[in-house]
Amino acid sequence: MKKLFMSLLIATGIIILSCCNQKKDNPVHPNNQTDNQTIDQKVETLLNQMTLAEKAGQMTQVDRSALQNIQDIKTYFLGSLLSGGGSAPADNSPAGWADMYDSYQNYALQTRLKIPLIYGIDAVHGNNNVKGAVIFPHNIGMGCTWDPVLVQKAAEVTAEEVAGTGINWTFSPCIAVARNIRWGRTYESFGQTPEIQQIMGQAEIAGYQGTDLSGQSSILACAKHYLGDGGTYGGKDQGDTECDEATLRAIHLPGYISAIKTGVGSIMVSFSSWNGVKMSENKYLLTDVLKNELGFKGFLVSDWGALYQLSGSFKTQIASAINAGIDMVMVPTDYKGFISSLISDVNDGSISMDRINDAVRRILTIKLKKGLFDHPLTNRAFTGKIGSAEHREVARECVRESIVLLKNSNNILPLKKNLSKIFIAGKNADDIGNQCGGWTISWQGNSGDITIGTTILQAIKNTVSSSTQVTFSKDGTGASGSNVAIVVIGETPYAEGMGDRSDLSISNDDYQTLLNVKNSGVPTVVILISGRPMILDKIINLSDAIMAAWLPGTEGEGVADIIFGDYKPTGKLTQSWPKNMNQIPINFGDSNYDPLFPYKYGLTY
Ligand code: BGC
Ligand code: BGC
Repeated sequence: MKKLFMSLLIATGIIILSCCNQKKDNPVHPNNQTDNQTIDQKVETLLNQMTLAEKAGQMTQVDRSALQNIQDIKTYFLGSLLSGGGSAPADNSPAGWADMYDSYQNYALQTRLKIPLIYGIDAVHGNNNVKGAVIFPHNIGMGCTWDPVLVQKAAEVTAEEVAGTGINWTFSPCIAVARNIRWGRTYESFGQTPEIQQIMGQAEIAGYQGTDLSGQSSILACAKHYLGDGGTYGGKDQGDTECDEATLRAIHLPGYISAIKTGVGSIMVSFSSWNGVKMSENKYLLTDVLKNELGFKGFLVSDWGALYQLSGSFKTQIASAINAGIDMVMVPTDYKGFISSLISDVNDGSISMDRINDAVRRILTIKLKKGLFDHPLTNRAFTGKIGSAEHREVARECVRESIVLLKNSNNILPLKKNLSKIFIAGKNADDIGNQCGGWTISWQGNSGDITIGTTILQAIKNTVSSSTQVTFSKDGTGASGSNVAIVVIGETPYAEGMGDRSDLSISNDDYQTLLNVKNSGVPTVVILISGRPMILDKIINLSDAIMAAWLPGTEGEGVADIIFGDYKPTGKLTQSWPKNMNQIPINFGDSNYDPLFPYKYGLTY
């Protein structure tokens, strides 16, 4: 009896073992499974076949420029690549991107389990790393439209322009509640209240992801940067948000609650800290609050190299972040070191296999929902639509709705199209790079002819009557004799911490430009191109009209639409406009609230 039992046991063991062996040699791919399997079942089937190395690979995200060898995608079972700001192929054209993406993806498809890559990019105002893509206003302008239907339409256009390069994931929307405009990322935020983040965050996520992420031109959205990135002390980028939990929840959490309701598939963890603890290691906020309390089912990605800011060795840093709840790590360069440390963390028990399985399960679920197993390569039908006239028209609509008219003495605006002489001045009048701002073609952005678009000067020329003479001088000299002058001044491009400022005054050069115009006695309209409110005390009395055009992107014609009255201004502020630096931070709801222009301010004709 005992003998029989033993031999049965051995026989069963042999059968189980041979089944496993067969599994290893002949892996089951979701595409070969019956269609009536749910996504969850497909994920479990995959997960059960995966080695630890394959799981570690899925949790790894590498910037494309850091790949030492394209074969490494296959060798290390990489789960994700990204293009950081400006990380573009040598041929920066839509087809160049699609070819690059497909070639990477083909290596992932050669792995044993053929799990496709998910590829991320900062398409934060259009597919902004791609030359010739349409560039939308940055989020501060999108917020001032107060038009979620239009913002969703814009995100649909962006999704198409991203899908046309093969890429399937954008690190957007940024739903930071920017509480201090000294912060260099103020323009990436829709505004200073949770309200505006909720409205616009939901609209963008719906636009990117479609109803369930499965559409061919749908892309995965990523709400960022969780949590409190816009609340740091002094508006310091990657700084510390010092407040109690009730305040943190009241101001910074609502945007994520709405994003999760809308089905956002990924969330990026902030570089910043909360009361001195780095978000990347905050298990309470990442796992207890976000995943357990709010029921977030997607995956958490860390920010660029953020793990290095934690304490201890790389191995310890990885354990802290993964145990806190991060599922995928934007390494972004030393992927070999990351993978071997992650594996040794699991082998010595610093990270449990359950935690790894949870992370990989979340990532695979999104890949299946996105339909990557069925459509891993670029759908070239969308490639040709990048930068199309139809897409530019949507951006132009966003530009005109984003403009906030701050001052309009004697109703100088709108201007007549048939004036005989219009004078244009200022460093931002004829500069596509300046009107696009940071995160355009390169990480920091650049002045000059960086991509295809219409400058404000060109837009004005396109709009006025054929008999109107339009003259331009950057420094504002030579205005006399004109009916009106339009002076386009403000900020020049920056991104992230490079844009942190202790002084937001109008620069001396801009002031001088305006003085030069004013000295000729011509009525003057100021158009401010900036990522945030600026201190206007020097210029407010030198100008007859002032409009905030934010960072409008490539479609300057949206500005001309308002100047010449084809459309009335409807934009309303989403940041309170301070009188001076001492008033900053200034937020709607403050006691002693006394801004130059309040939240939701905006004139019309
Ligand atoms: C930024 C993120 C961005 C990431 C990838 C980081 O430096 O903080 O917003 O998504 O880089 O480019
Ligand atoms: C940015 C990346 C960028 C890199 C450049 C990062 O902080 O987020 O997008 O490519 O810096 O060094």
